[in-house]
Amino acid sequence: MSWKDPGSSDAEIYKDGFHERLSRFWPGPREQLHSGGWAKTQEMTAEIKRLTTGEVSRALDLCCGEGATAVYLAATEGWEVTGVELVESAVMVARARAEQYGTVVRVKLEVSNSASSAEAAEATTTADETPAVRLHLSYQSVADLVRVAHASVHYMPLPSNSYDVVYGQDPDGLANENRVYAFKEVLRVLRPGGLFYFWHHWIPGPGWRPDLLLEYWGDPYTGSPRLSYELYLEDLRASGLQLASVTHTTELSARHMGAMAARMRREVPSLDGSLPDKWLERSLEFASRGGTMGIHVVAYKPPLPLPLPLR
Ligand SMILES: C[S@@+](CC[C@H](N)C(=O)[O-])C[C@H]1O[C@@H](n2cnc3c(N)ncnc32)[C@H](O)[C@@H]1O
Repeated sequence: MSWKDPGSSDAEIYKDGFHERLSRFWPGPREQLHSGGWAKTQEMTAEIKRLTTGEVSRALDLCCGEGATAVYLAATEGWEVTGVELVESAVMVARARAEQYGTVVRVKLEVSNSASSAEAAEATTTADETPAVRLHLSYQSVADLVRVAHASVHYMPLPSNSYDVVYGQDPDGLANENRVYAFKEVLRVLRPGGLFYFWHHWIPGPGWRPDLLLEYWGDPYTGSPRLSYELYLEDLRASGLQLASVTHTTELSARHMGAMAARMRREVPSLDGSLPDKWLERSLEFASRGGTMGIHVVAYKPPLPLPLPLR
C-alpha cells in the first residue's frame, strides 16, 4: 500500500487480529463477516446476475476479508474475482482458501434438434429428427480465477475499465471520511456500463436529525467523521457513478446487530445486561433513537444500460 493512499488512516484500525476480534461474537460463520451471511451472499449473487443480465466474467470484491465470497463466486459462477483487502493476514487466508478449493469440473449438456447445424449433423446417428446431445466437460483451478490484492480500496493497484461488476459486503473501507476516492476508484476500474453493488449495514441510515448525527460522530465509541447515508450519497454523486437505486438496510441491520448482542449476552453473562463491546452497545442505542440504519446501493458506470434492469 502506498502512503499516497487518501484512506490510509484505516491501517490504524484494520490490522492483523481484526478478523479474530470481529468473529468472536459474530452470529454467523467467520468466513462471512457481513450482515446476512451466506443467505445474503446468495441473494447478492442472484441480484448481480439479474442486474447485469448475466454478463459477468470479471468481478471485484471490495474489502474481501478472508475471501470466502470471492472463492465461492469463482467456483460456482466461473467468474474471475479479484479481492482487495487491507489486512495482510486476511489476504493470506483468502489466497490459501482459493488454493485449497482445488479444481472444479463444469458440465455442460447441449441438446440440439437442428440437423442443419454442422455440429449437430456430425453428431446425429439416426434419423434427422433425433436430437444430438453433446456433453462438454471443463476443468478449472479456482486459484487461477481468484486474485487478492493487499491494498486499500482508496488506491487500488488494478487496471482501468476492467471489471463487469464491483461488489462490497459491508466494505468498511467506505466508512472512511475520504470514501469519495474509493468511489472514484470503483468508477475507474469498472468497464463502461459496469455495475457497482454494495451494502453497509452499520452506518447511520437516512433521516437522522442533525443533532443526533453530531452526537453519534462525537461519541467516544461510535465517533467517526462524515458517516451517514446522506454523506455516502453525496460522495457517490461526486464520484461520477450513476445511481440506480438506494435503500436503507434497517431490518437487516437490526436483525444482525441484535443477534450479535444476544450472543454477547449469552456468552458473557456476568456483565449485568451491558455488552462487552461498547461500540455495538452505543450503536444499538443510537439506532433506537435514529430509527434507520445502513445503505444499499446499486449504481453503474455511465453509460447506463437501457432499459435499466431494476424491479
Ligand atoms: C465487515 S468486514 C467484511 C469482510 C468481507 N467483505 C466479508 O463479507 O467477510 C470489513 C472488511 O473491510 C476491510 N477493510 C477496512 N478498511 C479497508 C480499506 N481501506 N481497504 C480495504 N479493505 C479494508 C477489513 O479489513 C475487513 O476485512
